[in-house]
Amino acid sequence: MDLGLQGKTILVTGGASGIGAESAAQFLAEGAQVAIADQNGDAAEKVAERLRSTGGVAIGVSADVTIPASVEKMIASTLKSFGKLDVVVNNAGFTRDMRIERMAEDSWDAVVDVVLKGAFLVSKAAVPHLREGGCGRIINISSRAHLGNPGQVNYSAAKAGLIGFTKALALEEGRYHTTVNAVAPGIINTAAVTSLPHFEKIRVAAEKNTPIPRIGTASDVASAILFLASTHASYITGEVLHVTGGRY
Ligand code: NAI
Repeated sequence: MDLGLQGKTILVTGGASGIGAESAAQFLAEGAQVAIADQNGDAAEKVAERLRSTGGVAIGVSADVTIPASVEKMIASTLKSFGKLDVVVNNAGFTRDMRIERMAEDSWDAVVDVVLKGAFLVSKAAVPHLREGGCGRIINISSRAHLGNPGQVNYSAAKAGLIGFTKALALEEGRYHTTVNAVAPGIINTAAVTSLPHFEKIRVAAEKNTPIPRIGTASDVASAILFLASTHASYITGEVLHVTGGRY
């Protein structure tokens, strides 16, 4: 199936590892040019270098999505290299888990900031450029945690908020034929999860409780992201696509 991504310019935040890096690789395989932005600029450049070695067009950009000046610079670098912007994947994010009575205020702020302020700042800077192409795409990486997970009031609130953000922005940008959707992954075997001390427990429980009895892969999520970025999804907006193996 031709996804219509040939020659498109894609910006992936948090692209230096996991779901972001895998998405960047899949976009490249479809003939898109990709800006891989991450607060870890060296790691972003390494991913870009690896992708360039396969013959694709990719740049690494050092950017913190919670800092307005850094976001402006990231968009400017992408435009300088590629001259346009077609797709933004708001993927940067992390967890700081703790039961509420022991959750520090800075753990609340950090998670809410990276998920919500990050998506706000990046989308705000990107929308004028997405409008220019007449078929822009914003894909926000939420989580199944938007339904509520114990130990994750910060993360669950932020990821649920990101869905509200997605639906509101979809209403604003529809007139420009820019679609705005969210992907809500379940448990995915990226380093963020496999490095947890209790990963083995998580894996066994997930296999037991998931209709498709395995944890997900970054590739499972990237496939959903590419579909929403594709020409096949041009009349789908304000939606949440769950990639959870059927677990709700
Ligand atoms: P990861 O830890 O492999 O990748 C996240 C990347 O975001 C890292 O490279 C990190 O340096 C970057 N990042 C963090 N803060 C940043 C900032 N302020 N500015 C720019 N970059 C920043 O994590 P993974 O698993 O690939 O997660 C990607 C997204 O998917 C996150 O938003 C996460 O919440 C979400 N997600 C992950 C799930 C999982 O099970 N792995 C499940 C559901 C959602």
